[in-house]
Amino acid sequence: MIPTPLSPERNFASVPLSLAVAVPTVRLIPVSRSEYDAFVKEQIHEFADQKVRAGHWRAEEAAELSRHAVESFLPKGGPSESHRVYRAVDESNRGVGWIWVGPPPVRLLNLPTRRWLYQITVDAHLRGKGYGRAMLAATEQLVSREGAREIYLNVFRWNLIARALYDSAGYEVVHESETETGMRKALNQEVTR
Ligand SMILES: CC(C)(COP(=O)(O)OP(=O)(O)OC[C@H]1O[C@@H](n2cnc3c(N)ncnc32)[C@H](O)[C@@H]1OP(=O)(O)O)[C@@H](O)C(=O)NCCC(=O)NCCS
Repeated sequence: MIPTPLSPERNFASVPLSLAVAVPTVRLIPVSRSEYDAFVKEQIHEFADQKVRAGHWRAEEAAELSRHAVESFLPKGGPSESHRVYRAVDESNRGVGWIWVGPPPVRLLNLPTRRWLYQITVDAHLRGKGYGRAMLAATEQLVSREGAREIYLNVFRWNLIARALYDSAGYEVVHESETETGMRKALNQEVTR
C-alpha cells in the first residue's frame, strides 16, 4: 500500500525524537598512575609534532625539547603542584578523552583565580560528536567550583577545529603570534552551550 502523503507540517512533527541529535555529557575522573604515564608519553609526542610544524623546533631536537617542556609540569611520578590530568568518561563510563588543566605556565601570570587549559583531546575515533564541547564545559564547571574566575589557553593557528570550538564557547583572543593564538574566558559569564 502506498502511504498517504502528509502535509509538510505533519511530516516534520512526526520525526521520531530518537532521531534528534543527543548532546553528550561527560564526567572528569582523575587519571590512574598508568593512565597518567600513557598521557604524558602521548603529550610529549604530540607537542613535539606541533612545535616542528610551527617551525619552532627542528625535527631532530623536538623529542628531547618536548620531553623537557612537558615533564617540567608533568614529571615522572605525578603532576607538579596544582596540575591535574583527567580522563573524560561518557554516560556509560566509556573513556572519551583527556583534559590537562593547571595554573598558568609563567609564575608571573599566576593568580589563585586563574587556570590554564594545557590540553583537551578527544579520542580520535570519537571526534565531531560533541565530546570536546562537553569536556570543555565540564572543565569550566570544575575550575569554577574551585573558585577560578578565568581560564586561558593557547591554540595553534592551523587548528581550526579547536579554534571553532573555543570561539563558539565564548573564548576571546588575548594574544596572537604568527603560529599561536592565546585565548581567555571569564567564568562568571554563562558557560558553554
Ligand atoms: C579539538 C577537539 C578537542 C574538538 O573535540 P570534538 O569532540 O571533535 O568537537 P565537538 O564535536 O565537540 O565539536 C565542537 C565544535 O568544534 C568544531 N568542529 C568539530 N569538528 C569539526 C570539523 N570536522 N570541522 C570543523 N569544525 C569542527 C565545531 O565548531 C563544533 O561545534 P558545532 O558542532 O556546534 O558546530 C578534538 O577535535 C581533538 O581532540 N583534536 C585533537 C587535539 C587538539 O587539537 N586539541 C586542542 C588543542 S588546543
